[in-house]
Amino acid sequence: MSQSTLFTPLRVGALELPNRIVMAPLTRMRASSDGSPTKLTVEYYKQRASAGLIITEGTAISVQGQGYPNAPGIYTAEQIAAWREVTDAVHTNGGRIVMQLAHNGRNSHSSLHADGSLPVSSSAIPPNGPVLTSSFQQVPAEIPRALERAEVSRIIHSYRDAALNAVAAGFDGVELQGANSHLIEQFLETGTNQRTDSYGGPIQNRARFLLEIVDEVTNAIGADRLGVRLSPFGQYGGISDAAPFELFKYVIVELSSRKIAYLHLIEARGSEMGLTDELHADAVNNVGLFRSSFDGPFISAAAYTPESAAIAVESGAVDAIAFGRLFIANPDLPTRISLRAPLNKYNRATFYGGGADGYIDYPTLAGLE
Ligand SMILES: Cc1cc2nc3c(=O)[nH]c(=O)nc-3n(C[C@H](O)[C@H](O)[C@H](O)COP(=O)(O)O)c2cc1C
Repeated sequence: MSQSTLFTPLRVGALELPNRIVMAPLTRMRASSDGSPTKLTVEYYKQRASAGLIITEGTAISVQGQGYPNAPGIYTAEQIAAWREVTDAVHTNGGRIVMQLAHNGRNSHSSLHADGSLPVSSSAIPPNGPVLTSSFQQVPAEIPRALERAEVSRIIHSYRDAALNAVAAGFDGVELQGANSHLIEQFLETGTNQRTDSYGGPIQNRARFLLEIVDEVTNAIGADRLGVRLSPFGQYGGISDAAPFELFKYVIVELSSRKIAYLHLIEARGSEMGLTDELHADAVNNVGLFRSSFDGPFISAAAYTPESAAIAVESGAVDAIAFGRLFIANPDLPTRISLRAPLNKYNRATFYGGGADGYIDYPTLAGLE
């Protein structure tokens, strides 16, 4: 097995990636209180510009979409200007970067919304775990408010506006956060969606929210600058579906026909949010189940090592691998993989919140010399 396959170029929509090592979206909760990335954020992404593609942390499309304390947004002029410094730094250092657009729906908390409003979802069903307040306190989740029909249309337009804002901030494209129990998945799955209008009920209705967003964003910035992330069989936040294979098969075939730039699937064997190091050994294999339904670049994530990534790409099963935790700890991950050099270990205690510590101070190989 050779690592070299990971270093062959790959066309992904409008982008040409020089390697197949993708930086997975990673929420770090270090934005300023107005949702703008900081100078530390600029440095953090700049350090990782050698990735074939950087996907940013989940970034809120609106105040209502905010789901975590000190998570960034892309809905104000200040945020757009601050993100422009990030994209400039990545591009100047030879990289490519797309923004993950997120609406956290029911996993949010009212303290994260300036007007104190409740989190929203497809239906008034709370997640099963705790959520974080604006001051990083873990509290029981609130019962979300079910969205009105007219609000659903407004949110779809917010995704479009956020995609236009991302392009205005210099991003090479956007990725829709359709995974990890965010609002899009809360529409997709029966355990969260009990609506009786055209956005609930049969699979075609539950998929409508995602597909209308895809169509709006495509009209705004082009399908070749749009990727979608999904986590079939994921369980984060207690999300569940009565027939996940049929659901995701339908969704992925629809995405394929829309010729989006890439599909990004999280394997169910890993922890969706990297919250633990444990693996679900008996989990289904999403690549095996869904790869053949998508005609286009396919990125796979969760619990890959450099070795298993090379095997997956070399076998032709996937086109690229997204690394999460390894990219947190190894800013020069592609170099380390190509040299088979030892990897820095990540420090879970500094994943979320704080400052430079555990963010921009992991050493590169060059820095160790
Ligand atoms: C600190 C942390 C933050 C994460 N934030 C996001 C996020 O904002 N959006 C997302 O889709 N996934 C997020 N994830 C999931 C990762 O993108 C990835 O799928 C997961 O860590 C499994 O990959 P790994 O085994 O390579 O770490 C996060 C994971 C971690 C560890």
